[in-house]
Amino acid sequence: MSDKPKGPPFKPKRLYGRRKGHPLSDYQAGLIDALMPKLAVNVDGPVDLADLFDSPGPLRLEIGFGGGEHLCHRAAALPDWNFIGVEPFENGMAKCLAGVDRNGLKNVRLLMDDARFLLDQLPTASVDHIDLLYPDPWPKLRHNKRRFVNQGNLDEIARVLKPGGKFCFASDIPSYVDWTLDHLRRHPGFAWQASSAADWRTPYDGWLSTRYEQKAIREGRTPHYLTFVRLNQPGD
Ligand SMILES: C[S@@+](CC[C@H](N)C(=O)[O-])C[C@H]1O[C@@H](n2cnc3c(N)ncnc32)[C@H](O)[C@@H]1O
Repeated sequence: MSDKPKGPPFKPKRLYGRRKGHPLSDYQAGLIDALMPKLAVNVDGPVDLADLFDSPGPLRLEIGFGGGEHLCHRAAALPDWNFIGVEPFENGMAKCLAGVDRNGLKNVRLLMDDARFLLDQLPTASVDHIDLLYPDPWPKLRHNKRRFVNQGNLDEIARVLKPGGKFCFASDIPSYVDWTLDHLRRHPGFAWQASSAADWRTPYDGWLSTRYEQKAIREGRTPHYLTFVRLNQPGD
């Protein structure tokens, strides 16, 4: 595992999933044009976090935030923290911008692209918490390799997390939960923080159920909440 940002991003990385959906309303298009540039994280080179935020503070990332409801909820609840949300789907980003605008959030920055570009450019040991909530499940065996949880992405997540930092993964898809537990157990940088058998059934503190979770529950699937802690490894 390298301990440095990888420098100029290696483009293209192939994104599996949509970038555009139905046409935006005038209000949403206005937010993308006027507010997005003010909040956008530049990943053309190493990210300077001191320059990015108004004040220093612990840093939390949310990867694939959908409409940004959970991100905005956390950012409003934790005004002393800084947040970066990543979502390549323009309609989701427009919803999140509306949430940021409506709630007057000053501690949120955004990337409308593949989260791997951000991970590549973040400083080593700079992030306190990463949320990956209901990532695209890619349930067919031949598509499993598209899952966001994989060895390469875990190496980058381990690199950017501070020792003691948390990686939270939620999913309603048992095969993806097993896959994630397998990958994380094999990774020397993480330990699964489960103190009892009920642990993975209990929502995170301060949880706001995401849109995708609500759909899963309506359709009879069970949420799983996994929390991994970044270990302090020799050589870190
Ligand atoms: C199943 S949805 C879940 C959305 C939201 N987290 C929720 O729980 O409602 C997965 C999201 O991940 C986003 N996504 C997929 N690949 C991504 C990537 N490489 N980087 C960042 N986001 C990604 C998709 O655009 C989509 O919005």
